[in-house]
Amino acid sequence: MSISRRARLIFLVILACASLFFTDLIDCSGQERISERTLTSQAELFHQFIRSRRSIRRFKQEHLPLEVIMKIVDDARFAPSAGNRQPWRFIVVHKQELVKEMNGVVMWLPGCGPAKGEEPTAFIVVLGEKVNCAFAVENLVLSAHAEGIGTCIVGSVDWSRVKKLLKIPEKEQPFVVVTLGYAMEAAVAEDAAEEIGLRVWKDGAGKVHVPKKRLREVMSVDGYAF
Ligand SMILES: Cc1cc2nc3c(=O)[nH]c(=O)nc-3n(C[C@H](O)[C@H](O)[C@H](O)COP(=O)(O)O)c2cc1C
Repeated sequence: MSISRRARLIFLVILACASLFFTDLIDCSGQERISERTLTSQAELFHQFIRSRRSIRRFKQEHLPLEVIMKIVDDARFAPSAGNRQPWRFIVVHKQELVKEMNGVVMWLPGCGPAKGEEPTAFIVVLGEKVNCAFAVENLVLSAHAEGIGTCIVGSVDWSRVKKLLKIPEKEQPFVVVTLGYAMEAAVAEDAAEEIGLRVWKDGAGKVHVPKKRLREVMSVDGYAF
């Protein structure tokens, strides 16, 4: 190779490296910026992550470390809320005797609840105004999912028993209970087929199937078209 061709090649390699380096760098606000390439794969992972969370109702009887539950609640705190009011309260139920009592106050989707020895091993009781709390609860379940912990949001709750058990003042507004534990079942989401509708069902192997409406059923562009 002639010297000028080699010099041209070296120059091109340097140019390519520099362009990669600069797109990975820092934006003018001084914040670290993620490169286009990294962002694409991170976004893809995030889409997959959101889609892979399923409600779990049967749990291994393994201890959940309190620190991990606290980390999950800590993520809930970062949810958006109207006027930044953050009108939520979370009561973590972790002590064995209380967990046992809580297992008697939640109602499960018919045919999907845990058998004896498959109950949740911890609970998070969510109190506060519904709309805002819903965003915090989504953070909770996604954060738990990131920690490899299965959850189910339960709205059918015997609140008078919960209030008595946990000494919750009457004025507090109950929202939902989130059940937690390491999953002992598999669950998948699928495009809803007309013959099945939206009913959650279990196959012969005990796998839970969750039909989801298709994008075209729930979205229209530039105007109402349903
Ligand atoms: C506000 C709310 C209340 C719910 N209440 C119950 C409940 O009382 N019992 C139950 O087994 N599941 C309950 N679920 C879980 C739903 O059944 C579940 O989210 C739905 O079937 C979709 O499944 P997926 O979470 O796996 O996508 C509730 C979910 C939400 C968001």
